[in-house]
Amino acid sequence: MSPKKKSAYTVPKLKDFSATVLDKEAAKLRAAVEEESKAVNTEDEWKVFRDRWIARKNGILTEVNDLWLKAAPKEAKRDVGQRVNTNIIPHVETIVKDTHDRWKNLAILKKARAEGVDAQIDEARLALEVFQRVDVTLPGNRRGLGAEHPVIKTMNEIVGVFRNLGYSVEEGPEIETDYYNFEALNFPPNHPARDTQDTLFIANQESKPLRERLLLRTHTSPVQIRSMEKMKPPVRVVCPGKVHRNDAPDATHSPIFHQVEGLAVDTNITFCDLKGTLDHAMKALFGSSVKTRFYPSFFPFTEPSADVQISCIFCGGRGYRDGGPCRNCKASGWIELLGCGMVDPNVYGFVDYDPKKVSGFAFGMGVERIAILKYGVDDIQLFFNGDVRFLEQFG
Ligand code: PHE
Repeated sequence: MSPKKKSAYTVPKLKDFSATVLDKEAAKLRAAVEEESKAVNTEDEWKVFRDRWIARKNGILTEVNDLWLKAAPKEAKRDVGQRVNTNIIPHVETIVKDTHDRWKNLAILKKARAEGVDAQIDEARLALEVFQRVDVTLPGNRRGLGAEHPVIKTMNEIVGVFRNLGYSVEEGPEIETDYYNFEALNFPPNHPARDTQDTLFIANQESKPLRERLLLRTHTSPVQIRSMEKMKPPVRVVCPGKVHRNDAPDATHSPIFHQVEGLAVDTNITFCDLKGTLDHAMKALFGSSVKTRFYPSFFPFTEPSADVQISCIFCGGRGYRDGGPCRNCKASGWIELLGCGMVDPNVYGFVDYDPKKVSGFAFGMGVERIAILKYGVDDIQLFFNGDVRFLEQFG
């Protein structure tokens, strides 16, 4: 770097140390360093440039120190010092450093161009431009890791238990017809068992025949029918999914929730198989010390039907704990968890299975209910509010 003699910047001696003059001189110096920086194209030129401006001995900054700061009259020293320290020194140092970066970038670009790799040139240029603008010493933005939603996590766990027993997974639509949600499951039109399902109907379906009218499925049992229509026995399927009921939300109810349905149909399947399967599943989900009991119940599509209860996981089935009655099982020692039964022979009529040749069982369980018990959650609404402070605990 050899600036032309006539235009080369030199530090003037000052007679007047007034603010106006100081500002003007500082601006001149800054413009000069910027101008000279533009002429630097090689490492050697940069070294000359660097020494000319910031060398301890005879560098321009040293001269500024001698000619302006040291020479200033006492009363002007503060003004001069402030300008030198905040306006002049950092500016010159930044320009010298940036000039070197620019020279380095240029070298990289030249090399890349020589290798004929255009895409790499653009990439390098981009990366370098960003590098120059970004303060890489700043801490980065931490992006929180997501976690599986506790309902999905529990659903996968339940499905996993049955997959290990050889069941395959089937899914069906959330908007169902009356036929699949009710009729083929042996709920005749106007049968009072329909009342237990608190159904949400899609509006303006009245012109259609009843069986074609649409509704939000109230359980995953329609997937039993769809599966049996698709495949011949033996059938072993689990059907996880979302269901809807016209329930007001409270600590234990939600108009949207999830179920996992199960269905096994083969020759010679008995209630013993049902009991053994569900007893195993409950032990897999809640621990091997859990006991199960089958309590008579009613569903139109199973006969006989049962509610499955597990021994209370909070009081160990004793009915009392901490010197008082157990709140979780209302002191009974049992918690009701799911519905099940042997597939009603009428149902086989709807899917062209021969009830004389095949038999089977079905069961259905609420996922949130199981998650609530497993994780000790006291309000089902927590699953749906989307509060990350709740959700991140399952990560
Ligand atoms: N579908 C029933 C319900 O949601 C549960 C169930 C499924 C019962 C399968 C028996 C057999 O209430």
